Amino acid sequence: MSYPYQITSLKHYQEEYKRSVDTPEEFWADIANHFTWHRKWDQVLDWNFYEPRIEWFKGGKLNITENCLDRWVETQPNATAIIWEPNDPSEPHRTFTYKELHHKVCQFANVLKSNGATRGDRICIYMPMVPELTIAILACARIGAIHSVVFGGFSAQSIADRIQDAQCNIVLTADGGFRGNKSIPLKAVIDEALTTCPSVEKVIVLTRTSVPVSMIKGRDVWWEDEINKVEAQGNPICKAEIMDAEDLLFILYTSGSTGKPKGVVHTCGGYMVWTNYTFVNVFQYQPGQVHFCTADIGWVTGHSYIIYGPLSAGATSLMFEGIPTWPDAGRFWEIVDKHAVDILYTAPTAIRSLMSFGTDPIKGKKLHSLKVLGTVGEPINEEAWHWYDEHIGKRNCPIVDTWWQTETGGVLISNLAGITKAKPSFATLPLPGIQPVLVDENGKKIEGNGVSGNLCIQFPWPGMLRTTFGDHERCRTTYFSTYENLYFTGDGCLRDNEGDYRITGRVDDVLNVSGHRIGTAEVENAINMHTGVVESAVVGYPHDIKGQGIYAYVIFNGIHIDENQTRLDISQTVSKIIGAIAKPDKIQFVSGLPKTRSGKIMRRILRKIAEGELANLGDTSTLLDPLVVEEIKSNKL
Ligand code: WT7
Repeated sequence: MSYPYQITSLKHYQEEYKRSVDTPEEFWADIANHFTWHRKWDQVLDWNFYEPRIEWFKGGKLNITENCLDRWVETQPNATAIIWEPNDPSEPHRTFTYKELHHKVCQFANVLKSNGATRGDRICIYMPMVPELTIAILACARIGAIHSVVFGGFSAQSIADRIQDAQCNIVLTADGGFRGNKSIPLKAVIDEALTTCPSVEKVIVLTRTSVPVSMIKGRDVWWEDEINKVEAQGNPICKAEIMDAEDLLFILYTSGSTGKPKGVVHTCGGYMVWTNYTFVNVFQYQPGQVHFCTADIGWVTGHSYIIYGPLSAGATSLMFEGIPTWPDAGRFWEIVDKHAVDILYTAPTAIRSLMSFGTDPIKGKKLHSLKVLGTVGEPINEEAWHWYDEHIGKRNCPIVDTWWQTETGGVLISNLAGITKAKPSFATLPLPGIQPVLVDENGKKIEGNGVSGNLCIQFPWPGMLRTTFGDHERCRTTYFSTYENLYFTGDGCLRDNEGDYRITGRVDDVLNVSGHRIGTAEVENAINMHTGVVESAVVGYPHDIKGQGIYAYVIFNGIHIDENQTRLDISQTVSKIIGAIAKPDKIQFVSGLPKTRSGKIMRRILRKIAEGELANLGDTSTLLDPLVVEEIKSNKL
């Protein structure tokens, strides 16, 4: 097995890039031809960025799981598809060959069907990082149901919002999950969420932690019992539902600068081609290698580079249940040696966190198997880049800095491992098919090199989002209306003198905390739910490990028995409403917020103060109450 569309040299990249821009339809048709289709497309691409309407491989019929499973069962049934490494290193790891994974997926697909699931249903998945999560996702895709995975760290309220938005009828969960020395009561959280989710008819519960859970008659069933039932029926096969290329594959909720998280929609054909193509090219995956993406499947990185990209390429994908620092900060390196990992793909925040333990945890680890390193989720600072290069890659592994978003489905801007050059803190060059442009505030394109602007993409690519679930207008206004005829990423970007791209961070009110997107408005709404809070404003500030920390300015009219207790109470409220990931790092009580005469909060000033740039706040004379700024400055945390 090899990948005919794998780029093999810098010159080859340049040729392919040019071809992808000059003749995009032929370019993508050539690549899509290497997949399994029940029927080829009538039209490669039909699009406009006004509505927007984006259709790839229109008329094509396929099932993505036949591309991730069946075709490999034919050619390499005994190749390892999944290596699963448990949270607790003393528990045995598990592996699944393609044949075994295919069997498990068919089996669970039959469980879904016997519980009433049909094509087009939305199924919410709230599970720990166990192989059954991957099996569940693929089983949904097998029967044409749309999965909506919710990260295990989100609160009951957040899950309920997502279930209601998508009108899910089935929830897949576990009794609990293990992460480090903690055990998370997933089923209890689901029970709380479901008190406000009448659309849910069935909950299928996997046993993982064996904590006692309540099972509601008629609604809740045990995963294992359901498997036994379909086994007893003796039908090990589940024929793949034949889907249109543009049928929905999944919904994944992500935060924006306003309102509640939106359900980003990806479809079957384009997403498959994009995740596969980017996986094979960015990481330069070679057959037989072990790919270890450390992300949680609750985020898009896990969807694209633990499941769909690797499996559609017949690769071996390593899935890890735990966290990098438990039982100690050498866990990643132990896993790399234990499973002879070739490719390690992680987040800058994880690197910085491990860096803070020094090099002791690396002592005695060989790391000889590593060939390629990758980062994703946020800009990587040079110090972390060099540490990763020196101590993990031993200056012998190319590092790919992969820039992309939930909305983009897969990587858009990155160097290709060992093929195009790396440059610390630069994502470098666009992948074939990606046409980035920088624009100024007025939407005017900024030409040439050595320039900065807002990053947009001017032509569709197969993996891009199609809509936001249930609200197409929101998709249009969020991504396609800021600048006419362009997809707006929300990121600021520099194109240096050599034409390399460096992402400088969000230009909207979206924070990136430990590589996770959090909207400031969302956090403010949660803080404001606390009974004593009158108003709040949230901004980001530089944080050594998280990249950005959350700084909250809060007007509180309740009586503090103890200010720190109030801070804890407010954090608890945020945890309850969103999840622990959104807890503020700092809460400063203020008597007022800097506002313009029209009542708009001047975040720029608050951001500067949180960043510690007190000297240079710019013009504050237009404020309603300039004195409040002095107070905030003098009480800065
Ligand atoms: C935002 C998207 C892509 C999967 C994980 C995050 C930031 C992502 C990089 C990078 C600089 C990056 C951007 C982007 N980002 N990768 N390599 N360099 N910034 O997905 O939650 O949708 O967040 O993450 O700001 O807009 P997401």
